[in-house]
Amino acid sequence: MDEVKIFSPATVANVSCAFDILGFALEEVGDEMIFQKIPQKGVVIEMAGNSDLSTVPEENVAGVVALAMLKKVQPSFGVKMIIKKGIKPGSGIGSSAASASGAAFGVNKILGDVFSMKELVEFSMLGEALASGVRHADNTAPALYGGFTLVRSVDPLDVVTIPSPKNLFVSILHPQIEVKTLYARKILKKSVLLKDAVKQWGNIAGLISGLFKEDYALIGRSLQDIIVEPIRSILIPLFPEVKKAAVEAGALGSGISGSGPSMFALSEGKETAVRVAEAMKQVYAESGIDYEIHVSGINAEGVKVI
Ligand code: HSE
Repeated sequence: MDEVKIFSPATVANVSCAFDILGFALEEVGDEMIFQKIPQKGVVIEMAGNSDLSTVPEENVAGVVALAMLKKVQPSFGVKMIIKKGIKPGSGIGSSAASASGAAFGVNKILGDVFSMKELVEFSMLGEALASGVRHADNTAPALYGGFTLVRSVDPLDVVTIPSPKNLFVSILHPQIEVKTLYARKILKKSVLLKDAVKQWGNIAGLISGLFKEDYALIGRSLQDIIVEPIRSILIPLFPEVKKAAVEAGALGSGISGSGPSMFALSEGKETAVRVAEAMKQVYAESGIDYEIHVSGINAEGVKVI
């Protein structure tokens, strides 16, 4: 393939209780990327539209992924990537992951589909490591596979795809401020109390079971994070108010999307999700802080050729 255009979706990682191990993909929000085979070796990056992201491959999350893939295959050609960001960096809905997963998927197409999905997740984590200092795949795995994915282990990599209940919808409020994942990780405590861990893994197990059983009430009861959210929420203006408004409007539960500042709420049914989004929006309407709202089903497909 000499040229391919792809869509790489935004993702919600952590899903409240499951820090670094669970995420799901959104339907319409995401990055578009074009990949072209070029005669000179190496990686060339062009940013389409307004973006101050570096086009130096070693400093760009998509660039480091592409470089590693080319290094492994040693083709006689290079790859040019034209990246059109649909997700703002530092948004909490997987901006770096969309670019990193998109790069893994697109470069693989140009190379002739030589790598497996699992290998693409491995490559995508190089981008996440550049962005956040840590190899994590809770955004890139769902961006690549679609749906909900559980990253049971990063080393060795073990990704489990989890079924998404048909009527599950997400409402997202994205305040237009930037929270760097690197910083949002630095402020976390390094250890947790056993009694807190017990509650947290009860919720994780409940959430996974709820997804398998399509038990919306169980999903709702399990959307609780007593370890990370209390710390990170201080970085997000009006977090408790938005969460309360979402639940009062009928959401199953609500929390921080990834490392924030976006907040998400899960609902049974699109109508409820729209109502929940409206309630979340009301909280921000008079705050003077700009925001974006998204309502989406769960994207079952993941990154795709468009
Ligand atoms: N699991 C990661 C974190 C996701 O919360 O730091 C970052 O988007």
